[in-house]
Amino acid sequence: MSYSILDRASLPSYLGELPDVVNILGEGAELDIEEVGDGNLNYVYKVRRADDPERAIVLKQAVPYLRMVGEAWPLSRQRMTFEIRGLQLYNQLVPDFVPRIYHADEDMSVLAMQFLDSHIILRHGMIKGVVYPRIGQDVGTFLAETLFKTSALGMESIERRRLMDRFTLNDELCKLTEEFIFTFPLMEHESNYSNSATDEFARRHLRTDTEYKLRVLKLKELFITKTDALLHADLHTGSLMVNESETYVIDMEFAYFGPFGFDIGKIIANFLLSYTSHFHHSDDDSYQEWILTEAMKIWRVFEARFLALWAEQGDSAMLIDGLLADDELAEYKRRFLLDIFHDTIGFCGCSLARRTVGIAGVADIRDIPDAQRRSELEITNLELSKLLVLQHDKIDSIEDLEAMLRAFYDSRSTKLRSHISG
Ligand SMILES: Nc1ncnc2c1ncn2[C@@H]1O[C@H](COP(=O)(O)OP(=O)(O)OP(=O)(O)O)[C@@H](O)[C@H]1O
Ligand SMILES: [Mg+2]
Repeated sequence: MSYSILDRASLPSYLGELPDVVNILGEGAELDIEEVGDGNLNYVYKVRRADDPERAIVLKQAVPYLRMVGEAWPLSRQRMTFEIRGLQLYNQLVPDFVPRIYHADEDMSVLAMQFLDSHIILRHGMIKGVVYPRIGQDVGTFLAETLFKTSALGMESIERRRLMDRFTLNDELCKLTEEFIFTFPLMEHESNYSNSATDEFARRHLRTDTEYKLRVLKLKELFITKTDALLHADLHTGSLMVNESETYVIDMEFAYFGPFGFDIGKIIANFLLSYTSHFHHSDDDSYQEWILTEAMKIWRVFEARFLALWAEQGDSAMLIDGLLADDELAEYKRRFLLDIFHDTIGFCGCSLARRTVGIAGVADIRDIPDAQRRSELEITNLELSKLLVLQHDKIDSIEDLEAMLRAFYDSRSTKLRSHISG
């Protein structure tokens, strides 16, 4: 089918032609159609049967521009091709963590999928201080399964190169990441966010810190050149839909092959941004304690599961039986995970700054109305970004990282809490 932009009027007849969708919605039934409207890039419709709203699907369509800006900001709709391919692959690798696909059409840039009706966006839950008992465990598992199984440790060489070929042309969204995470926040740029005290800090302590900038550039180089595994590449708390007992990952339109630590660092950074925001949203540190524990669990579960998958794996592009003695293999694994850990901390540091001074900040903080309070929290995030970027290759264990984060936040908590509640 050739491309056309769907709308409320044309959706019913389009959906009526899709057997798996008709299975759910029935034939010719009256439909309630709601455009979600909280996405920046694409149109997302919730489609429910009017007389039985539990029978519902979600349809997402990319348009050849940025939805929130309009045609003035062209952006190739091919991003949906990569979201479709990413979701198809995740449905094979981690079916419990992603929506089921009812229909995927690369020509129409359309995806019809499972409606997650009892789930909310994790960021919204975290702003309200909701505890999700499974989150660290689920995210760590998702990361290990997707990253190991698409890496050169988990696949044979030819099969893997063919898979990579299906994602290499996600060029426009890769460029967005290159610029908005690794470039513009480091310089004065019109796309950056502005809040005077935060701007002042960024000018004096970030954009003139040569070592910080060179290290971010090194991480950018990793992002551009390393092809460790298939990344989600936009894994933040707005890309997770959750309830008490389930975790779903959505919105993989940035999917491409990149460095292991990028997805892990980005999601941990979003937990830390939430931690900082709870100096404002909470009266005490109990929710922050939960956030930190879960953030550290993401790494701990990732590492344990990654190693377990490695132990089960037969020959791969990287290793064949007989190449390494047991002690050599143990040392190789130790170095391998340590490299991922260092990169994770580095990417986490970059994400903290990008979500603070770059375009598209996090609602956890940007939605706080008082600019001065906001800037105190923003400066805290920039200080933490500096600490992590400057130290990322010297922190060798999760225990050390946790101790460093606790010391960092402890040293600021009295000031941030008392000012904010005062
Ligand atoms: N399968 C689903 N079930 C229920 N709601 C969904 C589903 N997929 C998306 N949504 C809702 O639609 C919103 C936008 O979806 P998504 O993030 O995929 O769109 P996007 O245009 O790519 O947005 P972004 O600006 O975050 O890139 C989500 O925040 C969520 O509220
Ligand atoms: Mg998106």
